[in-house]
Amino acid sequence: MRFTVAVDGPAAAGKGTISKAVAQQLGLAHLDTGLLYRAVGAKTLAGHSPIEAARALQPEDLDSGDLRTADVAQAASKVAILPEVRAALVDFQRAFADRPGGAVLDGRDIGTVICPDADVKLFVTASAEIRAERRYLELNAKGATTSREEVLADVKARDERDMNRSEAPLKPAKDAVTLDTSALSIDEALQAALVVIKAKLPNN
Ligand code: DC
Repeated sequence: MRFTVAVDGPAAAGKGTISKAVAQQLGLAHLDTGLLYRAVGAKTLAGHSPIEAARALQPEDLDSGDLRTADVAQAASKVAILPEVRAALVDFQRAFADRPGGAVLDGRDIGTVICPDADVKLFVTASAEIRAERRYLELNAKGATTSREEVLADVKARDERDMNRSEAPLKPAKDAVTLDTSALSIDEALQAALVVIKAKLPNN
């Protein structure tokens, strides 16, 4: 079965949590495509050229070091502007999406650029304030010493860059179903996503 679920949305909207849980429940493979850009961003912070780093990226780079820090997130958003970086990462993502067992990919341009023919497209969003609060609590639990104001400024800076770049900007695909998680618990958001996805499953 080839079955592709594309989940796009801004930082900390819940798309990663939803995608992982959906993949687990439906027995699909899951790729967090932000990790590709984070891995390139981390290599850039370590002094490598972003384009070379993207061209040389290996699957094991996605497990290396802590790719979840705020600095790496900003670096990822900056390298993601470069068309050569994005081009270098396309084949890996499309090959993943074409896995025979089906796949869920989450990111910014999955429904618009990487998998325009995905079987299901979700655009997961929430207000910037709510997303920043979630990210603040997440970072705080990991022991980071950042303030709520700093996290909100980071989220807004990334939104601005991700939505306004000329190459593959963050936006809902025309045929995407938008899921606003601002007022939803994780479980409510997951159930809402599953309703949309299960309706499109073959033999449903
Ligand atoms: O999903 P994330 O927060 O881990 O993504 C980090 C950055 O990577 C994000 O700010 C923009 C970039 N990105 C992208 O441009 N395209 C994707 N498909 C995924 C992430």
